[in-house]
Amino acid sequence: MMWVGRAELSAAVSNAGGLGILTALTQPTPDALRREIERCRSMTDKPFAVNLTILPSMGAPPYAEYRRAIIESDIRIVETAGQNPREHVEDFKAHGIIVIHKCTSVRHALSAERMGVDVISIDGFECAGHPGEDDVPGLVLIPAAADQVRIPLIASGGFGDGRGLAAALCLGADGINMGTRFCATVEAPIHERVKQLLVENDERATHVIFKSLHNTARVGRNSVSDKVVEILKRPDAKFEDVAHLVRGAQGRIVLETGDVDAGLVWAGQVQGLIHDIPTVAELIGRIVREARDIIERRLPAFL
Ligand SMILES: Cc1cc2nc3c(=O)[nH]c(=O)nc-3n(C[C@H](O)[C@H](O)[C@H](O)COP(=O)(O)O)c2cc1C
Repeated sequence: MMWVGRAELSAAVSNAGGLGILTALTQPTPDALRREIERCRSMTDKPFAVNLTILPSMGAPPYAEYRRAIIESDIRIVETAGQNPREHVEDFKAHGIIVIHKCTSVRHALSAERMGVDVISIDGFECAGHPGEDDVPGLVLIPAAADQVRIPLIASGGFGDGRGLAAALCLGADGINMGTRFCATVEAPIHERVKQLLVENDERATHVIFKSLHNTARVGRNSVSDKVVEILKRPDAKFEDVAHLVRGAQGRIVLETGDVDAGLVWAGQVQGLIHDIPTVAELIGRIVREARDIIERRLPAFL
């Protein structure tokens, strides 16, 4: 998670029994990523992963150098996301690294499986970030993927409690991935006001933007995303008309200063299930307990 997937949160997730994921591109340079990996290692002796997100962008970051930093830092698990991960997957696999590929459609999952990735993480339309262009929510996407994908499958998008975890297992997934929910935790390295916003917002408080530009994104609802929607409604609207509003640097200001109208806030529909700001350990413990209770008590009662 851009600007959020730092050592504090990743180590907390791994320490609590999950798999914390550092976001490579949150670090300004590959060397800064090496230092962040070491910082995370100083906070946990559990495994954690690094995410490398490959998105089309002008002045793309030096992906190969970030990849080298990940490999040379002896990271054992990587999450790739975005477009055309082949070159990266091949190099990670050649170094014996476990690759989780996060994608948003069954066809992309199958293509990543053929490419040799070890685990698929599949993001339904509910998710924060880029849900792809097919608009298929998890309730259909997860079992559709489970029907065809042979390697382990992680369900992503809209998960925030034990009901979601139990449901994901019922739908054929082997686990869940959470983004927005982890932003509203004590350890998330973002401003308190943003965490409060996630608690206050409900499941309707997102916008889907950039559909007309074929780069669909789900973001939290605020004055900036309202404005982006309004501008992009114009028939002749172009990306340039909203570029000043959606810059990553503006989103970073939101997270760091708590000025929730300074830029986009990346958040998913699961905001409707977020009612508190627990520690990561409390959150993961609660989710596992709830899911266990559903599986052991609620479901058998239906038999
Ligand atoms: C603040 C934030 C930043 C994110 N940045 C990235 C990113 O850089 N790369 C990526 O692959 N996904 C990113 N995502 C998406 C998450 O990794 C994950 O797929 C998504 O949040 C799952 O949906 P959920 O928010 O409903 O749990 C981001 C999500 C959030 C909330």
